[in-house]
Amino acid sequence: MKKILICGGAGYIGSHMSHWLHDQGHRVTVLDNLSTGHRGAVRWGDFIHADLLDPASLDRALAGGHFDAVMHFCARSLVGESVTQPYAYYLNNVAGTLNLLEAMRRHDVGRIVFSSTAAVFGNPVADLIDEEHPKAPINPYGASKLMAERILADAAHAYGLRSVTLRYFNAAGALPDQGIGEAHLCETHLIPNVLKAALGDGPALKVFGDDYPTPDGTCVRDYVHVQDLAQAHALALDFMEASAGAHAFNLGNGQGFSVREVIATAAEVSGKPVPFEVAPRRDGDPASLVASSAKARAQLGWVPRWTELGPIIESAWRWHRDQPDWSRQGA
Ligand code: UFG
Repeated sequence: MKKILICGGAGYIGSHMSHWLHDQGHRVTVLDNLSTGHRGAVRWGDFIHADLLDPASLDRALAGGHFDAVMHFCARSLVGESVTQPYAYYLNNVAGTLNLLEAMRRHDVGRIVFSSTAAVFGNPVADLIDEEHPKAPINPYGASKLMAERILADAAHAYGLRSVTLRYFNAAGALPDQGIGEAHLCETHLIPNVLKAALGDGPALKVFGDDYPTPDGTCVRDYVHVQDLAQAHALALDFMEASAGAHAFNLGNGQGFSVREVIATAAEVSGKPVPFEVAPRRDGDPASLVASSAKARAQLGWVPRWTELGPIIESAWRWHRDQPDWSRQGA
């Protein structure tokens, strides 16, 4: 049994992480400022209302906690917003991470699993993106995450901090039977928007560009189930037992699906038509992003269970169809 502090545990991926660790018998404490997360999503473990930009609140959260490790999901994560509000991204994702790392040092917590993103790579120069792929982010979001990755590497050298960075490709799916799923108040992601269109809930779906150099002209992405991401984080805890230093892994299924394929699968799974219109390209969207996760499989022992798009979307569909009231409201 480990004691884990989950920063951002009231959010989409953090809430699934809390469930996973609780289910495995670990002791979970969630820290969140509820700026985008939901109190209703904190269903396992204790809750501490704190903010990474308020070091005193971090001291209070960590004092006496005797945490074995921190998992850090707190971040601003919208590419488009990062372009128009870069200061907010560098402040939250870089300065906030530094505050957390400093607090961990003050309170003698020497291990962290850090959420990063495919956006650190920028425009891909290979069909499958592995960890050696050049890192050239094309927006402040990706740049802020890459800076935090660099800080972790420096901290390993200077302070002996052990870290695992996990770079998610497109997180998707839900755990509707546990009452958790994706619940962003301002939704920009494809699968939730497609499912809202199927439910007749929200504005008409826009397909951002159908003139990309892909088989059907729409963007291709690698969708990975949020439960498989949680599994990888748990494996990262075990990995750090034996591995000093800072390590990074890409997490995806290694298979790309186009926007049109997602729409067709959602229509099939839901039994409802998905009305959409083609709109201009969205700034900052690479044509295709598909992960090589060979390193995570080999070194973490990660074996994704959700390898088909249909079941991933089906889990998200059941969540969107039946979701609780709290998920539609402000935090
Ligand atoms: N899309 C639409 N209509 C929508 C929403 C999305 O056509 O309403 C398209 C996008 O243009 C993109 C694809 O669907 O081609 C997937 O878009 P998402 O917003 O769901 O996801 P992204 O690929 O933009 O984002 C993911 C991660 C980010 C990461 C980014 C890197 O969620 O954390 O990849 O490019 F930064």
